[in-house]
Amino acid sequence: MMVEQNLSLQPYNSFGIAAKAQRLVRVASEADVQAVLADPALAAAPKFVLGGGSNIVLTGDVKPLVLKVELKGRRWVGEDERHWLIEAAAGEPWHDFVAWTLDQGWPGLENMALIPGSVGAAPVQNIGAYGVELQDRFDSLDAIDLTTGRSFSLNAAQCAFGYRDSIFKHGPQQARGGSQHMGLAGKALITRVRFKLAKAWRPELGYQDLLRRQQETGVTHPTARQIFDWVCAIRRAKLPDPAVIGNAGSFFKNPTVTPEQCADIIGREPKVVHYPLADGSIKLAAGWLIDACGWKGKSVGNAGVYEKQALVLVNRGGAAHPCTGGEVVTLAKAIQTSVYERFGILLEPEPVVV
Ligand code: EPU
Repeated sequence: MMVEQNLSLQPYNSFGIAAKAQRLVRVASEADVQAVLADPALAAAPKFVLGGGSNIVLTGDVKPLVLKVELKGRRWVGEDERHWLIEAAAGEPWHDFVAWTLDQGWPGLENMALIPGSVGAAPVQNIGAYGVELQDRFDSLDAIDLTTGRSFSLNAAQCAFGYRDSIFKHGPQQARGGSQHMGLAGKALITRVRFKLAKAWRPELGYQDLLRRQQETGVTHPTARQIFDWVCAIRRAKLPDPAVIGNAGSFFKNPTVTPEQCADIIGREPKVVHYPLADGSIKLAAGWLIDACGWKGKSVGNAGVYEKQALVLVNRGGAAHPCTGGEVVTLAKAIQTSVYERFGILLEPEPVVV
């Protein structure tokens, strides 16, 4: 095990923010975690688990010991009459894993194509896109308790998945409803994730952008591969590629309101984009709210609001003059204030501010 000191994290966060890790250990095997825990000084240090770095805003050098997850491998684990059970190690890039499952003839993840980040980070925020969330295909995961070194597994209920949320986004004081476990943020390192993919595959085409593709192409019964291609094309058209323009995907969650609140907003803003949910509440498009407040293209320092999707904050300075985490947070706060003043809604950030 090697402890790297003062290592730049710029290549390891999708915003491309130039912060450093005071100490970083690469985790390529479970033995690497055990070696950290066997060292008294490292075992006692607070820890920060870094996956693909696509959902974080670094506001300064990272003081906790960074455990950079580089666990690799993916495999067929088993099957029953209805499902294939497929596993990937936490350090596998998410999109490559999705493409590989399709190549193997196991569809089901295609709507989540091209989401940046790693397999291990996917359950942390219950990634989702175009009508499918990770929890819809999730079977279980393995993790290592960073206090005791013990391995454990969690099923979906134990992960306490919510919209862009799970037990891994909450500290010990914030256990999630439905889970027996305490909040696991900083307390556990996910090593493997297993997915349950239905043999009786059905396309998920409810999302507006996919319906439009169907109409445009005249393809009424698309294959999983076709949906994969459509999702990639839709994302490339409206979301910035982090390899070109640094960003962390959607910066705010889409808020939910009561039907009464929604009716009140429609009364004032008839065009507000809203979707009724199964539980009777109504989801509003945060991107629309931010756009309506005139934020598209605006900046604070080198942090800006993406021109094609107001929900995405971007690093306009590139690698040479990157935005700082402070600029991103200042911009995000200004957006929150203006959306609150106009609509009475407090937007909740999606990425973790470190
Ligand atoms: N809209 C605007 N102006 C904007 C942005 C959006 O008017 O600047 C409108 C759009 O026209 C559309 C609506 O808002 O009517 C929703 O926009 P979009 O379809 O782009 O989806 P979203 O709600 O902004 C969510 C997820 C994305 C995911 C897409 C597709 C969240 C926070 N974001 O975005 O996830 O890819 O749906 O399923 O739920 C991510 O989490 O990082 C992410 C990219």
